Amino acid sequence: MARFRCPETVNVLLLGTGGREHALAWRLKKSKRIGTLWVEADANAGLQEIARVCPEPVGDVFRLARWCEREDIALVVIGPEGLLHADIATKLSDPPKRFVFGPNRAGAQLEWDKAFAKQVMRAATVPTADARVFTDAEQALAYVATRVDGCVVKATGLCAGKGVVVCKTIDEATRAVEDCLVRKVFGDAGLTILIEDLLEGPEVSVLALCDGQSFWVLDAAQDHKRVGDGDTGPNTGGMGAFSPTSKATPELLRVVERDVLVPTVDALKRMDIPFRGVLYAGMMVTPAGPKVLEFNTRFGDPETQPIMARLKADLVELCWATATGQLAEVEVSFDRRAACCVVVCSKGYPGSYAKGLEITGLDDARSIERAPDEEVLIFHAGTMRKHGKLVTNGGRVIGVTALAATVRRASELATAAAAKIRFEGAFFRRDIGISEHSS
Ligand code: AMP
Ligand code: GLY
Repeated sequence: MARFRCPETVNVLLLGTGGREHALAWRLKKSKRIGTLWVEADANAGLQEIARVCPEPVGDVFRLARWCEREDIALVVIGPEGLLHADIATKLSDPPKRFVFGPNRAGAQLEWDKAFAKQVMRAATVPTADARVFTDAEQALAYVATRVDGCVVKATGLCAGKGVVVCKTIDEATRAVEDCLVRKVFGDAGLTILIEDLLEGPEVSVLALCDGQSFWVLDAAQDHKRVGDGDTGPNTGGMGAFSPTSKATPELLRVVERDVLVPTVDALKRMDIPFRGVLYAGMMVTPAGPKVLEFNTRFGDPETQPIMARLKADLVELCWATATGQLAEVEVSFDRRAACCVVVCSKGYPGSYAKGLEITGLDDARSIERAPDEEVLIFHAGTMRKHGKLVTNGGRVIGVTALAATVRRASELATAAAAKIRFEGAFFRRDIGISEHSS
């Protein structure tokens, strides 16, 4: 591939509106190469404070591409899976003038089509749970009736983290199959399902930058998906996350790179699909070794908040190297301190919740008492400005992220700072990262 030197000054368009993007924006702004950083018109209030707002709607890609041309945007960074599925990457990519961090629709299929991901893994002998694919309700129901040992029913399309049901009994599995194929609660995203073996073991998220050829495996983070303390209650997008995690030993990361990341990207290459962006492998460490539960083709939210807090690299250069196939030439390192992000949520989340409630206490959270080598960062998620006031605009509202010597201390600090953030019905988990030992 031709060499594409990173310009001295890079104007960046960052797509996505939430907490992950605020953390990315904060790190992009620290780059010595950042020119103007642009974000979407409905980006949260935190993003709008540190970036300029692009006037074009993301839905009109033709106009957006013309605007990129006018504003001399050299790098587009895509956060959310929906935009990858819509193939914004292909539509905005215009080398050598403009490169995109984020795979095209074909690469993102690893995330938006779990049946495709399974097929790729099978062909590449990547360790994963055995699974069958169904579109017919009767056949699926006949099959689950034989699964006395339990199984996992998965809608194959994008369901914002809600399309997976872990079923211990045949009744549960029957209901999950009917939800997808009969009641169609996930619409088109659930019309094809996977029924897979139930695996057991701790879970680890391994995120790697990939330029289609080389990888850079990032320090691992672990998120907490259940809404309640002690991992109880329904699944959410993620109530908090911390990094590093003792579950992701260097040995485990090497195995995941060798047995999962490399063969998967090689398989895509054989299909003429260049993968440039984040490959995120959700792994379960089973007694028979680590196995893939799912792929995401983007940064995780909220895993990105602690990862960006710890990243010691120029993020513009890193995204540029990923987007242009030059990852082999860059170095990435991480702050030795640990980071923990606690997400303050709206009452009712992950179900329905009110919006427009005034938020206060951000300065109190930021200035909470701490040691000189500790930090507290506030990343907005679902916030907006209304008549000059900061108000809630989502289920996950603010991610309070602390850096400290150990995960345990970072967790204490983030939890104490989260308690300073106030709006009606605000709540957060108080046990993010506390299972982690303190060494
Ligand atoms: P996914 O969206 O595929 O990562 O699934 C969401 C959650 O469901 C995972 O984080 C796991 O906790 C659980 N899960 C998914 N697949 C399996 C499986 N084969 N066995 C056990 N649990 C699973
Ligand atoms: N926190 C999980 C995800 O971003 O998919």
